[in-house]
Amino acid sequence: MYKKADHYTKKAKAEGYEARSIYKLEEIQKKLKLIKPGQKILDLGCAPGSWSQYASKLVGLAGHIVGIDYKQITATLPNATFVYGNFLRDHNKEKIAELGPYDGIISDMAPDTSGDRLTDCYKSADLVREALDFAFTDLKKGGFFIAKIFQGGDEKKVMELMEKAFLKTRWLKPAASRDNSIEIFMIGIDFQSKPELEEKPFEEYFNDTPEGEMPW
Ligand SMILES: C[S@@+](CC[C@H](N)C(=O)[O-])C[C@H]1O[C@@H](n2cnc3c(N)ncnc32)[C@H](O)[C@@H]1O
Repeated sequence: MYKKADHYTKKAKAEGYEARSIYKLEEIQKKLKLIKPGQKILDLGCAPGSWSQYASKLVGLAGHIVGIDYKQITATLPNATFVYGNFLRDHNKEKIAELGPYDGIISDMAPDTSGDRLTDCYKSADLVREALDFAFTDLKKGGFFIAKIFQGGDEKKVMELMEKAFLKTRWLKPAASRDNSIEIFMIGIDFQSKPELEEKPFEEYFNDTPEGEMPW
């Protein structure tokens, strides 16, 4: 049943990566070539660290990775700064903003699953909305944004918002995603500026998102 997972898990171990998630970012990179030498990349929800490991190699010593997670980050890298904490907290956002601005923001953040699929989907969209809100002020013009989101909640509304801020957008479902996974990746290319929202303030844009405690 988990033949594919076994394959990617074994491959990650053999290649020295902290997690099988690396192959999702690798597939996105091979298709779109967004990460380049010398860039500064923000990795949201970076633990244990395979995305940071991969991005670190691509940006090289002239570039830098800033990662944040409240779980243990096991990767050790010569060109990375890791912040331990909840990205949703203002003081942590301030810390990572001070280390920016960024050429690219990548987010593999996922909510702790509640057992209720719909709740998890809305929580996942909330995390992407927060990441996007941060990108609107701390991503350089022309920068890119890659984020995991669960399908079945507000993902289309989040995409509508992204379409207003980036010249190009797309969805990508990597082969390394588990067969039974509801995750998909949203990609924004060539960031322009924070979109003007005519009818309601940004915080109310997702007013149908159910209340829920975020993990930290
Ligand atoms: C699928 S894992 C990331 C794997 C990582 N990309 C890698 O390759 O090693 C999702 C991570 O998101 C983190 N996360 C979820 N919500 C977060 C938040 N609000 N602040 C910081 N990290 C968060 C979790 O702790 C978890 O480590």
